[in-house]
Amino acid sequence: MNIKGSTNIVGLIGHPVEHSFSPPMHNAAFEALGMDYAYVAFDVDPSDLKSAIDGAKSLDIKGFNVTIPHKIQVMDYLDEIDEVAGLIGAVNTIDFKEMKGYNTDGIGAIKAIEEVTSVKDKNVVIAGAGGASRAISFYIAKYGAGSLTILNRNVRKAQNLAEDVLNSGLIDSVKSGSISTINDCLIDADILIDTTPVGMHPHINDEPIALAEDMHEDLVVFDAVYNPNETVLLKEAIEAGAKPIYGIKMLLYQGAESFEIWTGKKAPIDVMEEALRKTLN
Ligand code: ATR
Repeated sequence: MNIKGSTNIVGLIGHPVEHSFSPPMHNAAFEALGMDYAYVAFDVDPSDLKSAIDGAKSLDIKGFNVTIPHKIQVMDYLDEIDEVAGLIGAVNTIDFKEMKGYNTDGIGAIKAIEEVTSVKDKNVVIAGAGGASRAISFYIAKYGAGSLTILNRNVRKAQNLAEDVLNSGLIDSVKSGSISTINDCLIDADILIDTTPVGMHPHINDEPIALAEDMHEDLVVFDAVYNPNETVLLKEAIEAGAKPIYGIKMLLYQGAESFEIWTGKKAPIDVMEEALRKTLN
C-alpha cells in the first residue's frame, strides 16, 4: 500500500476491532482498482464515540464501518439515516459526505442469497430474533418476500420483531413462533436464514437448528455463521439436496455495499472475496 499526502481514509470504529476482517478486504479492493484510499481500524471507547465522529469529520475521513458496541448510539451523531437503517434502528456504515448512516448487514445477506435465488415473492423463515435477524428481516421485507416467519427460543422477542417488520408496511405477511416448530415451518419455505450462533466455533458440533429430514431439495439455506465455513446446519442442507449459502458471503456483500457507498465505484467482488478467505483461514 502506498500512502501519500493525498490518500483518502476510510475505516472501522468499534470496541474491540483488532480481529476485524474488513481492513484486508477493503485494502485489497483499493489496491486492485489502483484507488488512493486506505482502510484502518480504530478502537473507540463508547464514552469517546461523539468526539471520534466529530474528529473524523474534521480529519476529512470519507467513511466508517461501525461495529459493536456503537451501531445504535452512533445514529445520534449523524444528520441523516437511510430509511431501512432507521427501521432497523442500527447503522454499520457512515458516509461522511452527507453524514448519513446506512445498514449494509441486511443488504449483505440479501445479496448473498440473491447469488442463488431472488427473494421476491418467496416464503422466508428466519431463525433468531436478535440484532442480525432484525437487520436481515427488514431487508427481506424490502426486497419483496411473499412471507416472513420469525422463529426464536424466546418467542416474545420473535413476536416483537415480527410486529415491527409488519408495521413497516414493507410486507403483508409476517408470522412468529418458537424455533421448536421449525420442521413444520420448513414444509412451505423457500429460504431458511439462520442468525443464531448455533454451530459457531468452538461449538461446531452443536445440534443444528434443523435437520436434513426437515428440508426439501428446493430449499435455500443461508447460515450467517462464517466460522466454520460449513456449519452443522449447512451440512444438513447439503445432505438434503438443498442449496447452501455460506456466511462468508454476507461479510463480503456488506463490505462491497459499504465500498460502493463511499467510493461510488463498483466493488471488485472477486478480489474482496479472496482477501476475506485468506484472512478467515
Ligand atoms: P446477533 O446480533 O448476532 O443477532 P443477538 O442479538 O445476541 O446476536 O441474538 C442472538 C439470537 O440467537 C437470539 O435470537 C437468540 O435467541 P434468544 O432470544 O431466545 O436468546 C438466538 N440464540 C442464541 N443461542 C441460541 C441457541 N443455542 N439456540 C437457539 N437460538 C439461540
